[in-house]
Amino acid sequence: MALREILTYPNPILRQNAEPVTDFDESLRKLVNDMAETMYDAPGVGLAANQIGVVQQIVVIDASEEKNDLMALINPEILSGEGSQVDEEGCLSVVGLSAKVKRFNKIKVKAFDVEGKEIEFEAEEWFARVVQHEVDHLKGTLFIDHLSSLKRSLYKKKRKKQLKEEQAAKNDKQDK
Ligand code: NI
Repeated sequence: MALREILTYPNPILRQNAEPVTDFDESLRKLVNDMAETMYDAPGVGLAANQIGVVQQIVVIDASEEKNDLMALINPEILSGEGSQVDEEGCLSVVGLSAKVKRFNKIKVKAFDVEGKEIEFEAEEWFARVVQHEVDHLKGTLFIDHLSSLKRSLYKKKRKKQLKEEQAAKNDKQDK
């Protein structure tokens, strides 16, 4: 297992449409293990493959409090959604922001597990939120896309400044 680097906004890979997985082989299991390790280390409740630069339809999720309920969803699809919920959301790829996002309260999901077996399940509330957030990633969508354009442009500005400062600090170090 290995920790992978988590890409952050505005990295263009986060905007790509992930490809479906066709081979349920050893390399997929290895990738899923790396993703789980990276997610727990961050720590986060979910991670999509594009967040580590792999543009394939794979997400790992552990929405449990005890962090002992790992779920890997391959080629996940949200079949239907009902009701709505509004709650605070953040993302490992969207540094320094959390905001209220509206999501379905209850969803029906179809996916495959790492062995290639088809699974179907229902998710509610917090768990449903996490699944919707991660499936969004696979379509190149970030939670900031659900915010008002004003909030989004404020974040863009903030992030630009942040990156500039990081770069300046790096250059400073190199000068010394
Ligand atoms: Ni995210």
